[in-house]
Amino acid sequence: MGKGKRVGIIGAGNVGSTIAYSLAMLGSCHEIILRDNKMEIAKGKALDMSQAAAAVRSHTVVSVAEKMSDLTDCDIVVITAGSPRLPGMSRDDLLMINAKITREVVAGIAQYSPNAIIIMVSNPLDVMTYVALRESGFERSRVIGMAGILDSARMAAFIQEKLGYGGGQIRASVMGGHGDDMVPLPRYSTVAGVPLSDLLTQDEIDGIVQRTRKGGAEIVALLQTGSAYYAPAKSTAIMIEAILKDTKQIHACAVYLDGEYGYHDVVSGVPVMLGANGVEKIIQITLDDAEKKMFADSCQSVQTLIDTLNTNNFFQGA
Ligand code: NAI
Ligand code: 2OP
Repeated sequence: MGKGKRVGIIGAGNVGSTIAYSLAMLGSCHEIILRDNKMEIAKGKALDMSQAAAAVRSHTVVSVAEKMSDLTDCDIVVITAGSPRLPGMSRDDLLMINAKITREVVAGIAQYSPNAIIIMVSNPLDVMTYVALRESGFERSRVIGMAGILDSARMAAFIQEKLGYGGGQIRASVMGGHGDDMVPLPRYSTVAGVPLSDLLTQDEIDGIVQRTRKGGAEIVALLQTGSAYYAPAKSTAIMIEAILKDTKQIHACAVYLDGEYGYHDVVSGVPVMLGANGVEKIIQITLDDAEKKMFADSCQSVQTLIDTLNTNNFFQGA
């Protein structure tokens, strides 16, 4: 019998524990190992989820890593450790806090699960993916950020809400960074293959694009005490399943660009093929001039944050 699949999740807060629960119910891996500074809470959640897994006859066991050295030989490690975005706080405010947390946890992953694929969730997403790549020394195919699936799902939900039909048949497409200047692509979005422009007016499409860009903030404003976690967790679980099952499906994910779309040394969201080796192919779709400009602006926003880290000598360990 082959080795059972092990998924580590660092940060067992709202997003991390919801990812774990989703995976435990799917039974797609043998072990889920939670790691959080708040150890007792993580232990309580692990026990609760193991019991839920037993209730649905899932073979998945959920446990807790008391120290990083317990997080050994994972196939995938998800990073959700960090501070959530609170009302009035931009994703960018989280930069230095979460960069330091990322550095700390990535060092542990590189030491104890050196062959793992890292899925980054913490914000600001694209820059944290960049930090994880630089600090791990892993090849870029094994350091992947989650955002595009979430942002595309939000756009699909808004399209369904506006149309009042089409649920389950909507394919929405969002590229670029996970920020207010993300790049929703109505031109590549359809309902059962029908272009959006045949179903909605330009004003309605523009409204959906704007709402998608602010999709995270809309939920923060309602929750008041934190940010979204059901859709983010499900989106992450979709990536994990694609990798564990080697599906070769195409999803929008944040990856390090090394010439693709004309960009170097920056992370942004693009369509990729996910399989057992992580990002197995980066897909380059044709963008028109307006889309290229939006993608350029989005990459520039990420670059500005990377520059801030460099200015603060972050990568020299300062
Ligand atoms: P949360 O506050 O509920 O959970 C974060 C957890 O990380 C806490 O339990 C905390 O104790 C833990 N933690 C902090 N430092 C740690 C360390 N060094 N080691 C281990 N655990 C540590 O936050 P939530 O809602 O789960 O969000 C997590 C992150 O994901 C945030 O940065 C948030 O902005 C981001 N996020 C990103 C999304 C995306 O689309 N990429 C979507 C939703 C959230
Ligand atoms: C979201 O989009 C906060 O990035 C997180 O919900």
